[in-house]
Amino acid sequence: MDQMIGELRQQFKHELKDVKDSSGVEQLKVRFLGKKGPIQGLMTQLRDVPGDKRPVIGKQINDLKLELEALCHEALSGYQQAELAQQIAGEKIDISLPGRRQFQGKAHPLSQFLQEIIDILHGMGFSVQYGPDIDTDWYNFEGLNFPPDHPAREMQDTFYIDAERLLRTHTSNTQLRVMEKTTPPIRIIAPGTVYRNENISARSHVFFHQVEGLYVDRNVTLADLFSTMEEFYTKLLRRKIISRFRPSFFPFTEPSVEIDIQCSQCGGKGCRICKNSGWLEVCGAGMVHPEVLRNGGIDPEVYSGFAWGMGVERPAMLRYDVNDIRLFSENDLRFLNQF
Ligand code: PHE
Repeated sequence: MDQMIGELRQQFKHELKDVKDSSGVEQLKVRFLGKKGPIQGLMTQLRDVPGDKRPVIGKQINDLKLELEALCHEALSGYQQAELAQQIAGEKIDISLPGRRQFQGKAHPLSQFLQEIIDILHGMGFSVQYGPDIDTDWYNFEGLNFPPDHPAREMQDTFYIDAERLLRTHTSNTQLRVMEKTTPPIRIIAPGTVYRNENISARSHVFFHQVEGLYVDRNVTLADLFSTMEEFYTKLLRRKIISRFRPSFFPFTEPSVEIDIQCSQCGGKGCRICKNSGWLEVCGAGMVHPEVLRNGGIDPEVYSGFAWGMGVERPAMLRYDVNDIRLFSENDLRFLNQF
C-alpha cells in the first residue's frame, strides 16, 4: 500500500505538469479523485489491510487525497486568473475607433419641388389625380384632337410600345380620363413623368416631369386662366412676377397660349439662363377645345374650361441654380446631397 500511494503521488504530479489549462486540471481531478478514481480504489482496498495498520494507512491515503486536492486547487486558480485576463484582453473595446456612420434618406430634389407645386395648387382648390405613364393613342393624341398627320405623332417624338400603346408624351393624357368620370365643376392637377424621343442635352431629356391642370365649369374664361397662373407662379417663385401670354397652338386648346415669366436672373435684360430673350417659357395653356370637352362627355354649350401643362425641371433648375437637366437623373450623391 505504501508503495502504491507513493506511485500515485508521482503519477499525479507527472501528469499535472503536462496540463495546460483549467479544463485540463478539472479533468485530472475527476480522474484521480472521482468516485471511480484510484484514490477511491485505495479506500476500498483499505478493508483488506490488517486492523492494526489500518489507521496509519488510512491517514496516508487521506493525506494524499488532501494533497492532490490542494495541488488541483492551486493549479486551477493560477490558470483561471490567466484565462480571465486573456478573455478581458480579447473583449477590450477600442474607443478610439471611428463610429459607424448612419445615412439618412430624403426625397429627391425634383420630388421636393414637385411637392411644393402640389401644395400651392392644392391650397388654390385643385385636387390631385394621376394618369398612366403607358397609355393609348386615344388619350394621348386622338381624343385630344391631334390630326392623324400631326408631327408629334411621328416616331421621332413618341416612344411606341406597340401599335396601340405608347409612353405618354404629356400629362394631358389625364384630361379625358378625368372628364369621363367627373361632372363639372372639375378642378384637378395631374403630376407625372412624360417621355419624348429627343436628343439628350443639358436642356432636354427623354423623360421629364409635368403638372397638368384642368378647370371646367360654367363661365370659365381666359381671364381665370391668367389670374390662376399669375397667382401660382408668384407663390412658387416667392416674388412678384412679370408674366406674358403669347398666342400659341395646341390641338386640344383654343385659343392656346404660351406663358413666359420675365427672367429673374437678369431682370429681363437677357442672359445665359433665358437665352438672351429676357423671358422664360414656363407653361403651355389654353381654353379646352370644344371637341375635347365633347370627347370627355361634357357639353361645350354649357361648360367651358382651361387647361395648362407646366414643366417641373425648368423652374427647378432656376430655383436651385442647376445648369444641366441630366444631373436630376444621374443619381450622383455629390449632387443629391446638396438638397
Ligand atoms: N401638353 C402640352 C405640352 O406638353 C401643354 C399643354 C397642356 C398645353 C394643357 C395646353 C393645355 O406641351
